[in-house]
Amino acid sequence: MFLSLLAISCFTMSGLIAHGQASKSANGQTAEQRADALLKQMTLEEKIGQLNQGAGAMLGDAPPADDQIRKGLAGSILWVSEPAAINRIQKIAVEESRLHIPLLIGLDVIHGYHTIFPPPLAMSATWDPRLVEQAQTIAAREARAAGINWTFAPMVDIARDARWGRMVEGAGEDPYLGAIMAKAQVRGFQGPELDTPGHVLGCVKHFAAYGAADGGRDYDSSYVADDLLWNVYFPPFKAAIDAGVGSLMSAYMDLNDVPATGNYFLLHDVLREDWKFRGFVVSDAFAIGSLVTHGYAKDKEDAAYRAFLAGVNMDMASYTYLNQLPKLVKAGRVTEAQLDAMVKPMLVAKYKLGLFENAYIDESKIAGVMNDPASAQFARKASQQSMVLLKNDGPLLPLDKTGNKYKSMAVIGPVADSGPAQVGFWGGMITGGSDVVTVIAGIKAKVGPSVKVEYAKGPNIRREIPSNFDGLPGIKLRDEPAQSPADAQAAFDEAVATAKRNDIVVLVLGEGALMAGEAASNGTLRLAGRQQELLQAVVATGKPVVLVLVNGRPLNIAWAAEHVPAILEAWEPGSQGGHAVADILFGDANPGGKLTVTWPRIGGQSPLYYAHTLTHQPESAPDFKSRYQDMKSTPLYPFGYGLSYTKFAVGNLHLSKATVKVGESVGASVEVQNTGGVAGDEVVQLYIHQQSGSASRPVRQLKGFEKVSLAPGEKKTLHFTLGKDELTYWSPALKTWVLEPAVFDVWAGQDSTATLHANFEVTQ
Ligand code: NOJ
Repeated sequence: MFLSLLAISCFTMSGLIAHGQASKSANGQTAEQRADALLKQMTLEEKIGQLNQGAGAMLGDAPPADDQIRKGLAGSILWVSEPAAINRIQKIAVEESRLHIPLLIGLDVIHGYHTIFPPPLAMSATWDPRLVEQAQTIAAREARAAGINWTFAPMVDIARDARWGRMVEGAGEDPYLGAIMAKAQVRGFQGPELDTPGHVLGCVKHFAAYGAADGGRDYDSSYVADDLLWNVYFPPFKAAIDAGVGSLMSAYMDLNDVPATGNYFLLHDVLREDWKFRGFVVSDAFAIGSLVTHGYAKDKEDAAYRAFLAGVNMDMASYTYLNQLPKLVKAGRVTEAQLDAMVKPMLVAKYKLGLFENAYIDESKIAGVMNDPASAQFARKASQQSMVLLKNDGPLLPLDKTGNKYKSMAVIGPVADSGPAQVGFWGGMITGGSDVVTVIAGIKAKVGPSVKVEYAKGPNIRREIPSNFDGLPGIKLRDEPAQSPADAQAAFDEAVATAKRNDIVVLVLGEGALMAGEAASNGTLRLAGRQQELLQAVVATGKPVVLVLVNGRPLNIAWAAEHVPAILEAWEPGSQGGHAVADILFGDANPGGKLTVTWPRIGGQSPLYYAHTLTHQPESAPDFKSRYQDMKSTPLYPFGYGLSYTKFAVGNLHLSKATVKVGESVGASVEVQNTGGVAGDEVVQLYIHQQSGSASRPVRQLKGFEKVSLAPGEKKTLHFTLGKDELTYWSPALKTWVLEPAVFDVWAGQDSTATLHANFEVTQ
């Protein structure tokens, strides 16, 4: 009772403070000045305490780190998502600790807190940064209402290997698009000022090149040449920093044999020196302690020393700083001035977030924020726009919902009615997959009594090697139960029989929630369990089949691509995903999503990406091509690809100049027209290739795009600029940024294989 009264009065008080003002005290001091003043009052232990992030739910039933908080030995807590628990621990920090310093409460709000949006890979397929920003604004509002003031997002790792399960958390393979999506997410999370109500501190992660893990195995080492770091893996981080992101997370893996969490080059030379980052760095969970496991630090003390010197401000959950830093300070290896410099950015963030004015949440307001119908509506729209229509022969889609064409429909598959699969790893971690409109529910709501809908799940799908998250305290996701072979066969037979007795089949296949995301690498990309067999058996019934994929990364659907007339990539479509799938299937929404990853045929093609260099024998060579001898080396679907229910023509590519001097810009204009019968969205993409230079340049690089909505017959002219930003790259030969005289090809079109071409020359 006392807590909620206190919470309400604090809430009201904070309402009196104008935005942008909470970080200043009554006597007009800035957040920095207030942090300096506070630092002067802090003991050595309290300073080290601010560098420690304690783990909530991982402690199981134990009270989350209460004593540490009371003694001022935790600056932050993660993995607590229950609002009352958050208010309780903030109260200990604010009222029972000596200096009343509030806590940063961190959580992975990656694609929603209560309203779950599609994951970042799917959101990037919208090619719509405004929509992405708005979704993260909603996510921030919900999270903040529940007491979370810090999200471990955006995740901006470039991922070119579909075997890597965490591909789902980022914006795909392209640095240009990745940078735009990174900025949009930072704006959404943080808002114009950190103390704007309903916003949270962002944390760009995982610095850097985590997506290049060897063999696509999560946590494995990355070996990435300098030019790829600067040209491919770094740009989204730089963009997030330019957008003002307040914190950054170091990655788990070795980068070129130096663990990212002890990597002075990354955290000091690049981040602080080159990019002038002034926020703070948190390690990934347990990563400081793991510096010993890497075979890098000789013991925990050495691990703390190396992470600290490299520039990691906060230790996530390994307690290495808490236990080791006092010794290092006493031995004089770490000075108190160094310590102050590491603590200060966290205090500044807390002031800027307005936490010293009000650390509590008003629990009575939470339900209102979470249940805002506008958020659900927006999630439905985001989900529709993220879906990619991969194939539509006939066209089979959109389907008739009146019952005139099909009287009955079978909806079949293990993820057709799965809340957890639809919200995915992080969404499910928070919600457990409840409150989800599943695909079957969405279809039933759409067709009402006009079409008889029958559902059969088919055999359960499970990971072959269980997830380490399965069963952890605080993790709500579970793998599906094992089935006896007889039960699985009965479910299989029932699914095929259901297909036979209905007019049309919507087959919903893909991945369970623990099959994509962290610790979810997949060597073959094959459909889990008996799904491939089920697919073939259902197609063999001769019924028209629409394949809907609910998954977090490209899977091996090569057989389906040949034998199924219509394929819709719905990704993990989020809490409103079932409605969105139905909207698309029945033509109430027209798909406009485009792949932001190249889709391989099988796992063995990975890593696969469009922006590769030409090589000695390119695929276009007449013989001795750079290719496999036992299969095609081209992708199943290229980067940027996606169909629509209408048709678009892209033409009239015109460059403003044929020749420019180094440093000058070229304008490119191109026309796009909706030549089909319904309104639709198209993403016009602009690619370049530098024909010669101090280094080989990728065959194509995305350097512009625009998403347009066009009515039938409508035409628009789009304008792009190719200037210094677009033409400069980091040359591995010259070890610096260069803009070189050369001939540049330009292509415009609907995906990365666009043929509409022009060129210009840059001269000295
Ligand atoms: C480990 C993951 O790698 C990271 O992305 C996440 O933010 C932390 N755990 C905290 O949950």
